[in-house]
Amino acid sequence: MIEARGIHKYFGGSHVLRGIDATIARGEVAALMGSSGSGKSTFLRCLNRIEEPSQGDVLIEGTVITDLRTDVNRVRADIGMVFQEYNLFPHMTVLENVALGLIYVRRRPRSEAQETAADALKRVGLADHVTKHPQQLSGGQQQRVAIARSLAMRPKAILFDEPTSALDPEMVNEVLEVMRTLAEEGMTMVVVSHEIGFLRKAADQLIMLDAGQVVERGPTARVLDEPEHERTREFLRAIR
Ligand SMILES: Nc1ncnc2c1ncn2[C@@H]1O[C@H](COP(=O)(O)OP(=O)(O)O)[C@@H](O)[C@H]1O
Ligand SMILES: [Mg+2]
Repeated sequence: MIEARGIHKYFGGSHVLRGIDATIARGEVAALMGSSGSGKSTFLRCLNRIEEPSQGDVLIEGTVITDLRTDVNRVRADIGMVFQEYNLFPHMTVLENVALGLIYVRRRPRSEAQETAADALKRVGLADHVTKHPQQLSGGQQQRVAIARSLAMRPKAILFDEPTSALDPEMVNEVLEVMRTLAEEGMTMVVVSHEIGFLRKAADQLIMLDAGQVVERGPTARVLDEPEHERTREFLRAIR
């Protein structure tokens, strides 16, 4: 479903991604781990071309999306992204926030877009909150709205960049629970998260980055329980 081949990224003179390969099958959940500055966000953003790789290719269902002729708006609609910040429009209702991309990017009629948005909000457990404004919701609920906004676009995959790290601790689980359900339903996901309990339940493969390179990868339980690389062992000790 998603294939990254030899991704490099330079910001000016600094070489932050140094040849990353990854293959994520349909329905698979891959998790990226690594210390701050290791390149997790940059790599994730290269997968839907929010960031342009300096070198290397990304293929989605066999199509090279890093080709200059590719319509990047289409790519970003097909590969959803959920960030640490929810980025909801405060003057719009929850339903309007979720319907927006369907109307303006997918060009769906407003009524159909609102129906699809309502379905997506139901999937994240927010059917009773559709007419509220974002500031009337908790952080965890707002992040679930952001997930619904991605889901409503019927994406081929969703990328999550530390979706729970800005949340108060009591709200982390409701968001992880929604993500776990999506994973069980077969959504292809790439997740930057250090929530070990969640990763154990939901992630099929773990990719450990260090200084812009993959130092270790494998099935989640294997990497967590028998890390082969000293850098991985150090990192796991530090976050536990
Ligand atoms: N837009 C940018 N301009 C310059 N440097 C950047 C930019 N984005 C990220 N970096 C640098 O790239 C490196 C990797 O960053 P990032 O991908 O955000 O790491 P992580 O998500 O693992 O913390 C860091 O050194 C960071 O400072
Ligand atoms: Mg990051």
